[in-house]
Amino acid sequence: MSKVHVFNAGPCVLPQVAIDNTIEALKNFKGTGIPVVSVSHRTKEWEAVMDECRSLWKELLHIPDTHEVLFLGGGASLQFLYVAMNYLEKKAAYLDTGVWAHKALKEAQGIGDAYAIACSKDKNYTYIPKGFEIPADLDYLHITTNNTIYGTEIHTDIDCPCPLIADMSSDIMSRPVDVSKYDLIYGGAQKNVGPAGVIFAIVRKDSLGRVSRYIPTMLDYRTHLDKGSMFNTPPVLAIFIMNETLKWLKSIGGVEAIYDLNKKKAALLYDEIDRNSMFVGTAEKEDRSLMNVCFVMAPGKEDLQDEFMAFAKERGMVGIKGHRSVGGFRASLYNACPIEDVQALVDCMKEFENLKK
Ligand SMILES: Cc1ncc(COP(=O)(O)O)c(C=O)c1O
Repeated sequence: MSKVHVFNAGPCVLPQVAIDNTIEALKNFKGTGIPVVSVSHRTKEWEAVMDECRSLWKELLHIPDTHEVLFLGGGASLQFLYVAMNYLEKKAAYLDTGVWAHKALKEAQGIGDAYAIACSKDKNYTYIPKGFEIPADLDYLHITTNNTIYGTEIHTDIDCPCPLIADMSSDIMSRPVDVSKYDLIYGGAQKNVGPAGVIFAIVRKDSLGRVSRYIPTMLDYRTHLDKGSMFNTPPVLAIFIMNETLKWLKSIGGVEAIYDLNKKKAALLYDEIDRNSMFVGTAEKEDRSLMNVCFVMAPGKEDLQDEFMAFAKERGMVGIKGHRSVGGFRASLYNACPIEDVQALVDCMKEFENLKK
């Protein structure tokens, strides 16, 4: 089979060593003679994986002792409900930067008083709203740091006068984060830290228990905090692969090293988009995501879109179709996407331009 270059938005490319180690563990988990999917989660061998995974999270993101990491099921979409259940008492604000941010807001509005503090829908979410006032008496401000569909990203940890909560599904571990600024950071694993099937939640322990409502047992972060994310059966295979993915990240120098590489990969592709007469980027330059690079055909070249898609496919490019709400193309350059794959896409874009000139 010829070489493929995978730019899927998630599930997506994972480190080969994590895949290989998982294949081994599916045959024989840590010398037990049992596949990892058959091992009881109440064994010391499994608990060692949970402990290692938690420690890696703490080490790689420099998570302070005030916070704990949880691994749960249900996807990031269920976390939208967790957030409101655990933190919304009087009023919360949401920065509406796209479909996922909007879904998080909608879920909170089903529970209590939540509103969009600013919104970039006027330009199809191609920028991050700025300069809005954040009232200090909010229960929390919710942000989506990377907008997977539109390729926009909040690049810094904002100063917030009220508790700050972030969906970091698509940029966690891609850049350093000052975890102490957040009461909660959550997301699905299936972009930078593992396969679909597990979510991470980094909670400030003393931020819990502030709401007066009854929280159903499974939706209460305290349930999972008290039981080390093993109140019920954890998604073992997904956590195993996440642990292997984080071991790989540590082996290549951690978050700081991957951040440098992520900047290089993104610059390589954005520079080509800006240079190439066939294409234009869709996101505001200052808000461009390092993870999801969105672009369309340049004005006047729109009818070449299907041709370029076929051309790229022939050269092994996988997953570059833009989300249906944006159109065009999207290349996701998550941590495990090698720079060589980005170069292959850039070469393909150059080749297409030369062909059409
Ligand atoms: C930023 C963001 N938040 C939330 C989600 C929803 O995640 P899940 O499919 O795990 O519910 C996604 C999915 O792509 C996402 O990109």
